[in-house]
Amino acid sequence: MNARMTTELGAIELKNPVMCGSGEMVIDEAGIRSALEAGAAAVFMKSTNESDVARAQLARSDYALLDSEWREVDWDFRPPPDASLFCRSGLTPQPFDAWLEMLATTDAYAREHDAFVIPSLIPADLDTAITYARRTEEAGARVLELNVAASHADEASQGALTLERSGDGVKRILSRFREAIDIPIWVKLTGQSGNVTELAKGARDGGADAVTLAGRFMAFVPDVETMRPVLGTHAGFGGPWALPITCRFLVEARKELGASFPLIGTNGARSRLDVIRFLLSGASAVQMTSAVFAGGFGVLRGSIDAVDRYLEEHATEASAIVGAAADRVATYAEQEERPGYWRKFVPEGSSDA
Ligand SMILES: Cc1cc2nc3c(=O)[nH]c(=O)nc-3n(C[C@H](O)[C@H](O)[C@H](O)COP(=O)(O)O)c2cc1C
Repeated sequence: MNARMTTELGAIELKNPVMCGSGEMVIDEAGIRSALEAGAAAVFMKSTNESDVARAQLARSDYALLDSEWREVDWDFRPPPDASLFCRSGLTPQPFDAWLEMLATTDAYAREHDAFVIPSLIPADLDTAITYARRTEEAGARVLELNVAASHADEASQGALTLERSGDGVKRILSRFREAIDIPIWVKLTGQSGNVTELAKGARDGGADAVTLAGRFMAFVPDVETMRPVLGTHAGFGGPWALPITCRFLVEARKELGASFPLIGTNGARSRLDVIRFLLSGASAVQMTSAVFAGGFGVLRGSIDAVDRYLEEHATEASAIVGAAADRVATYAEQEERPGYWRKFVPEGSSDA
């Protein structure tokens, strides 16, 4: 292990802060192995639950990469840096037993790489999800990801996916899982409800060991040529623009929960130093999903190398910079007064200065 790259999420030590998030590219064993071989410290399996409807939704998935003027760009695994991903997805089509078997096989391979393969559950029926969680633990899972933030939940059939919007709701769900299993639970929360801090507190109080902030937003993109919705529906949306919003969620959660409660960043990591940006905002590790899906597994290696170079150049360590910028954020009221300074930013002709 490279000592400057290691990072801790509670009792779990990771060899570096770069994780491959759950998505279609890690739906099968080959994808998970590729992510591990690219150096990811953890790979989150494509999520599952017991709902046939959620499973079937994958057959209706569709994906569009949009540039910053909302034009669709080619899917050639070399996305432009400003590309956003607009898509609808579904859960893994695998039967649960086959998925569990894949967990055991790939996590054994992960151990050879000092890494983790992490099962990801998106509850539909809570009792069934708890049974599934117990079975992942019995199958040898070392951590469970619980996603209670499925962006597509409102578009899917009633009850097929969980999108929990209240802190009390998150706490209730977490408490049930906490009673049922002993392995660490990392919970992914939504950024769509405007109360991320409440959700994070609910997760911690319910017994989560780490909180992942935050799930993607839902969006609608009209096509000006056809006058129809791009992809025909609402869909999940993420891009480089999401990074500062996620960073603020991290800063706020750190302020509320304290520096010792582990946070994971998701939503917006694209270019090479984005993992550093998330660390500086308070995340101890970062999931990269869309960037890997649209750009290939080499994106993980590129990010790991960039983080390593940055830490070497700054003579520091990953764990030492977690929250460094977050802890320096000031209030508006603390800023020096500069009367009239704002005029510098007003275009010619619009001010009588
Ligand atoms: C195509 C696609 C499929 C996804 N599937 C899942 C999933 O099955 N389970 C899950 O927890 N998150 C899923 N996500 C969410 C991602 O893991 C991640 O949290 C989100 O995309 C934001 O991170 P990013 O900006 O790195 O993409 C998916 C995202 C995309 C784009």
